[in-house]
Amino acid sequence: MLHSVPSGIPSDGGGNHRPHPQAGIAAMSLSTHLNSPIGKKLITGITGLGLTFFVLMHMIGNLAMFSGDDAYNEYAHFLASLGPLLYAVEVGLLLFFLAHAVNGVKIWFGKRKARPQGYAVYRSAGGPSKQSASSRSMIITGIILLVFLVFHLISFKFGPGGPGNADAAYVTVVDGVEMRDLAQLVREKFATSWYTFGYTAIMLLLIVHLRHGVWSALQSLGAMRPSISPIVHAIGGLLGLGIGIGFIVMPLALYFGMI
Ligand code: HEM
Repeated sequence: MLHSVPSGIPSDGGGNHRPHPQAGIAAMSLSTHLNSPIGKKLITGITGLGLTFFVLMHMIGNLAMFSGDDAYNEYAHFLASLGPLLYAVEVGLLLFFLAHAVNGVKIWFGKRKARPQGYAVYRSAGGPSKQSASSRSMIITGIILLVFLVFHLISFKFGPGGPGNADAAYVTVVDGVEMRDLAQLVREKFATSWYTFGYTAIMLLLIVHLRHGVWSALQSLGAMRPSISPIVHAIGGLLGLGIGIGFIVMPLALYFGMI
C-alpha cells in the first residue's frame, strides 16, 4: 500500500512519520525568541497598544452618558447584541490582558535579577532613556489596575442585570426595545463618594501607566530614533492624559449632579 507523505514530515520507511527536524528547530527558535528580553518587550508592547486602543474606545463609549441614560443603555445594548462577535473580542481582550501582565511581570523579574540591590536613591535619567517615576512604577500601577479590573467587572459587567445576574429592577424599555438598565447601575455607583473618588484615583494611576507604557511600546516597536523620541514621548503623555481625563469626567459629573 502506498503512503502519501505530507511535505516536511519524513517517513522512517516503515510508514511512521517523524516531524521534520527543521520544524522542531523553528518552533524552538520561536519560543526562544518570544522568551528573550526583546521578545518579552515586543509582546508587552503589542498587547499594551491593543489594550490602549480598547480603553480609548471604552472611554469614548462611556461619554454616551452625557447624551442621556437612554443613549447609554442603547449603546451597551448594541454591543451586547453583537453576540458571537462580542464574545470573540472579549476572549481576545482576556488573552491580551493575560499576555501583557505575565510578560510585564517577567520583564520586572528579569530586571531585578540583573540588579538585585536596586538603587537607594532614584534620579530621573531623562534623555533618551526617559527613566522616570512612571517607568519604575509600571509594575505597581499595573498590578493595581489588574486588581481594579476584576473588581470593575464584578461591579458592572456581572453586576445586577448582567450575564448570570438577571434582575427585573435593572431592565428598561427604550423605543419599544427591552434592555439592561446599565445607566441606572452607573448612576447608583457614582452617587457614592468612595466609588467616585476611588475611580478618580485609579484613573490617575491609569494616566501614569499609559504615559510611560505607550512611549515604551512604541520604542520597542522601532520608534527608537533619538530625533523622534521626544515626539513619541509627547504622544504617550497626551494619549494617557486624554484617556484618563475622559474616564474621570463622567463619574464626577454624575456625583456632582451635572448630568
Ligand atoms: C470611569 C471609568 C470607567 C467606567 C465608568 C466604566 C464602566 C464600565 C461599564 C458600565 C461596563 C459594563 C459594560 C457592559 O456590560 O456592557 C464596563 C465593562 C468593562 N470595562 Fe470599564 N469602565 C471604566 C474604566 C475602565 C478601565 C480603566 C478599564 C481597563 C483597565 C476598563 C475595562 C473594562 C472591561 C474589560 C469591561 C468588559 C467589556 C466587555 O466584556 O464587553 N474599564 N465598564
